[in-house]
Amino acid sequence: MNKELNEVIKKLYQLEVNAEILKSNRPDLCDYQYNGTFDLAKIVHENPYEIGLKLKEALEKNIEVGKKFSKIECVKPGFLNFTLSDAYINEMLTDMIAEEKFAITMPKKETIVIDYGGANVAKPLHVGHLRPAIVGESIKRLLKYMNQDVIADVHLGDYGLQIGQVIYGLKEEGILPNEITIEKLSKIYPKISGLCKENDSIKEECASITKELQDGNAEYQDYFHSILEISKKDIKKMYDFLGVSFDLWLGESDAYTYIPSLTKELESLDLLKSSEGAKIIPVSEETDKIEIPPCIYQKSNGAYLYSTTDLATLYEREQDYHPNKVLYVADSRQGLHFTQVFRVAKKTNSLKNIECEFLGLGTINGSDGKPFKTRAGNTPRLEDLFLDIKTIFMNNEEHHTEYSESDLAKIINAIIKFADLQNNREKEYIFDIAKFSKTTGKTGPYILYTYLRTKKIIKNNENCIDNLSKTIYNVHDRNLRLKLLELNEIMQYAFKTRMPSVVANYLYEICVLVNAFYENNHINNLEENEKKKDWVTILNLTTNIIYTLLDILGMDAPSIM
Ligand code: ARG
Repeated sequence: MNKELNEVIKKLYQLEVNAEILKSNRPDLCDYQYNGTFDLAKIVHENPYEIGLKLKEALEKNIEVGKKFSKIECVKPGFLNFTLSDAYINEMLTDMIAEEKFAITMPKKETIVIDYGGANVAKPLHVGHLRPAIVGESIKRLLKYMNQDVIADVHLGDYGLQIGQVIYGLKEEGILPNEITIEKLSKIYPKISGLCKENDSIKEECASITKELQDGNAEYQDYFHSILEISKKDIKKMYDFLGVSFDLWLGESDAYTYIPSLTKELESLDLLKSSEGAKIIPVSEETDKIEIPPCIYQKSNGAYLYSTTDLATLYEREQDYHPNKVLYVADSRQGLHFTQVFRVAKKTNSLKNIECEFLGLGTINGSDGKPFKTRAGNTPRLEDLFLDIKTIFMNNEEHHTEYSESDLAKIINAIIKFADLQNNREKEYIFDIAKFSKTTGKTGPYILYTYLRTKKIIKNNENCIDNLSKTIYNVHDRNLRLKLLELNEIMQYAFKTRMPSVVANYLYEICVLVNAFYENNHINNLEENEKKKDWVTILNLTTNIIYTLLDILGMDAPSIM
């Protein structure tokens, strides 16, 4: 409708202004509004109300406008208020019902590698690992839904210093590669990383083990493969529980094969500089507001670093998939690292055309605003956290239902995921299990509960699903229908910004409105056939949309609640 409005303004005032009709911030008065009369008034020296009246009159003569809006009002001191016509709303909804994927406009298809999860081998899993898994999985699903060719890679942290530390610890305790267990690993890493902080010679020893491992030392390779296998199993268990899956289970160590060719290219472009025995790549730019230090490519002892493996991995991805884009979902505090890596990539010939995006994540905090701890005061192991949530959920409300293990797993998942995904991913948030486990409020259980409720009504009235009439019956009905019409815009925005929170918040709004709809409009015993048919049809569309959005958020509904 912006087109018609701009035409009218041009005709009346000979002005090109790019006028925009916006969603109303007073939905009780109208659905859309135009507030630009005040700016126009300054240009044409006319009273805004007078301008509004003229625009209204001219717009009403336009047939397209008349089809879409049942009412255009000009109210003092000069606002234009637009009310959509019921027939038009239903026409749009009919389109959404008929078309594939609710008639959402799909972006151009691209090949996108998404790198998320990123658990570190040999370190115990804890709550800090949740966010990159949950948010990354949801972004992956969002991209796939929007027709992108997506390749998900877990990019395990498997060749860093922690491996040298763990090998050192295992050897100290006389544990052979075939005797390693996950329990032993989870004790050794914290112990040795603590020791390294106090004792420089142990720290150096661990660094040299890491370097020799990278160079192919057979004994260390044996340890490494055993650690990798055992740790991966544990990591996989967590991702399985969370419904998080990857196409590729690669890690830093897999990129090593690509380092020689990458180094050759960097050398041929004269990008590698020596600095105190190390090899670095300067990446600062004149326009930088803060200093961006050089990217360190190789340490003076010859070992490679996090940046090196990320560059080599990009090289590997380019060779294997020729991606248009590579997305990295990781802790916001890695922003500088990715800036350096992306800048180096831009300087090369083979990687410069890949668009790299860093999607940063805020931390998960406890009620005290500090990184989340268990009730016992530790950084919780994930398994304990899941148990905690289960207990709190079951004690929270009166649950008359005996849940199966698989239903409980789905509920725990929904609690954790909706708690996380409703927040802008860049912001930190407070993880309050008691609050997020309730079946009321902005919680996972509330969403699941709403979904099961609407699904049940549909199941009982399936034979009523039909074409929509032109009628809308009351305000609850209208509010819900209007909300559904926002789907296209919401999905475009979530896709563009890579923000699952946009989807989560919209899903919540739908749930609030469909509950109001249901509570005020009793469907089951309704005798008026036409109305019942319309309402069941709208509920069916709502249920399908909720299902789709739940899936994008990685949430699965239990069989009962
Ligand atoms: N393993 C890293 C960490 O725990 C996260 C990996 C992120 N992805 C990447 N390509 N660097 O901090």
